[in-house]
Amino acid sequence: MGVETETAANDGFAAYVEDGRVKCGLTSDFVLYFDKERIVARLLEKVGIRVFNSAAATEICDDKMLTHAVLADNGILMPDTVAGPMCYAPEAKIDDGYIRRVVAEFGFPVVVKECYGSFGEQVYLCDDELSLRCKLDEIKTKPYLLQRYEQASSGRDLRVIVIGGKAVCAMKRVNADDFRSNAARGGRCEAAAIPDDVADMCERAAKIIGLDYCGVDVLLTDPPKIIEVNSNAMFEAMERATGINVAELYAAHIVNTVVKLPRR
Ligand SMILES: Nc1ncnc2c1ncn2[C@@H]1O[C@H](COP(=O)(O)OP(=O)(O)OP(=O)(O)O)[C@@H](O)[C@H]1O
Ligand SMILES: [Mg+2]
Repeated sequence: MGVETETAANDGFAAYVEDGRVKCGLTSDFVLYFDKERIVARLLEKVGIRVFNSAAATEICDDKMLTHAVLADNGILMPDTVAGPMCYAPEAKIDDGYIRRVVAEFGFPVVVKECYGSFGEQVYLCDDELSLRCKLDEIKTKPYLLQRYEQASSGRDLRVIVIGGKAVCAMKRVNADDFRSNAARGGRCEAAAIPDDVADMCERAAKIIGLDYCGVDVLLTDPPKIIEVNSNAMFEAMERATGINVAELYAAHIVNTVVKLPRR
């Protein structure tokens, strides 16, 4: 697209604080930020560089509970979700009353997720009180959430890519052997149409968070529910499944956005 690019390592020195001011050696019109690291992105924005996705949007997506909190009260459907009580001391005990309330609200099995996680690796299903207590004990010093298990979508979901406010393509992921449909857990990916209500909900979610690019994970419940918005969604599997050049669409969005910005 005629854009000169250069790769910068995210080693902290792309932008840092010196004499109380942001020191930044980059002179570029924009930065395509492949990391989820939030501080350098924030500093780059402070010196006026347009960062794709913005530091704030990436930060919201990185934390699954924060994503639910930001999306709530905006007409976005999500599974019922409660933040887990985080403990600072490993010997701290999760309150029995909390466990009883979770069981009363969500029943079993119940989904437990670490707020920071990828590839389905930090997503767990607990079948009974003992396994729930053991899991919470294991992860209680990290941020986590508990969520109603949506049986109707077990092992299936829809990954929708939204670029520049438009849902551009989707793939259905199906896993017969695990409730998690992630490709990394063995989920099979195939191109899928995007129902109008899902496209609308994903586009609204991207807009609320302020994302240029994202992959939205939607449970195939009736009606569909959003479980996650990924600011750094990988697109190789999506391109393979759909034949759509996701990278090119994202690049076109970046160029169209940057040409309208005042010159730095
Ligand atoms: N509440 C739920 N009910 C049923 N299945 C769920 C639920 N939450 C998650 N899943 C399944 O687990 C998978 C992984 O969950 P989620 O997308 O929240 O985390 P992740 O994939 O690890 O994060 P990332 O997409 O950032 O890598 C989902 O794709 C879905 O198949
Ligand atoms: Mg996911």
